[in-house]
Amino acid sequence: MENSIRSLREEIAAFRIGTADELEAFRLRFTVRKGLIAGLFAQLKSVDPARRPEIGGQLNQLKAEAESKIEEASQALVSETKTAGPAIDLSLPGRRHFTGSEHPVQKVLGEMKQIFSDMGFTIATGPELELGSYNFDMLNFPPDHPARDMQDTFFVRHEEGEDDVLLRTHTSPVQVRVMLDRKPPIRVICPGKVYRNEAISARSYCVFHQLEGLYIDKGVTFADLKATIYSFARQMFGQDVKLRFRPSFFPFTEPSAEVDVTCYLCGGKGCRVCKKSGWLEIMGCGMVHPNVMRSAGIDPEEWSGYAFGMGVDRTVLLKYKIDDIRLLFENDVRMLRQFPA
Ligand code: PHE
Repeated sequence: MENSIRSLREEIAAFRIGTADELEAFRLRFTVRKGLIAGLFAQLKSVDPARRPEIGGQLNQLKAEAESKIEEASQALVSETKTAGPAIDLSLPGRRHFTGSEHPVQKVLGEMKQIFSDMGFTIATGPELELGSYNFDMLNFPPDHPARDMQDTFFVRHEEGEDDVLLRTHTSPVQVRVMLDRKPPIRVICPGKVYRNEAISARSYCVFHQLEGLYIDKGVTFADLKATIYSFARQMFGQDVKLRFRPSFFPFTEPSAEVDVTCYLCGGKGCRVCKKSGWLEIMGCGMVHPNVMRSAGIDPEEWSGYAFGMGVDRTVLLKYKIDDIRLLFENDVRMLRQFPA
């Protein structure tokens, strides 16, 4: 019996506990209810009664040693996991952070907004999902105007006796909202997305950006409009740029004009982009129609104003030499990465 105790003590002393699995193996071998130490306690009955207290003492001692070894080992394991924390692999490559940058359309829009805000225009925005009355009726479009056609306009609701709900086809309805909302003098620009149901190609897309302007005050004339457009064009396209105003028609302005700038790619000599004409069309404009003022509650006898509207995307394409308008909307990262911050 004493030999068995001695050899078990040696085995316990030599048992190395380095992991949780080894700790469990130690416990199962020595200290559980059916373990080796309990086995020796069971043999105590057969020991000479005179020696039983001594042998029992040795067994108790052995049991205490085994238990304190478990205690020590489990504490060591706990403090090890605490100081080590989660496993860190120092050889892993670092995480890459991609820096976002401004979309080319926003860059150009930002330049345009800056030029007009330097001239005292504030920015007004409105919903892209618009009422037919704001997009057409209050802008003096007659009921049978072709722009109201399904082929040009994306209708969301089109029912007899109800106001149409549609994707705005221009940003002019924002001007209607501003006129209904505020009293003159008014001096705003309205940048934003507009939608038209057009055949999609490299040159036209079903959504694009416009920037419109509206100025209403006492005694505003076409000369003010021209001066403003000139100032804008020089800052946007260069000091040497020339302008050409061609008579045109819009339901919401009278008189109306379309504005061309000398092609800023060839300087007016004629190239592929300006189709050899030397001119690029940049906007429509005119004096706000009295009917439009009246429908927004502004007296056209007292006030007058001008409005203009230009497409943004074509300028973006020319400026960055992008040959397909669809690239501006697909947001392919291979394209966007070419415009770092
Ligand atoms: N809203 C017109 C368009 O989309 C542009 C425009 C605005 C023309 C203001 C004249 C005055 O074509």
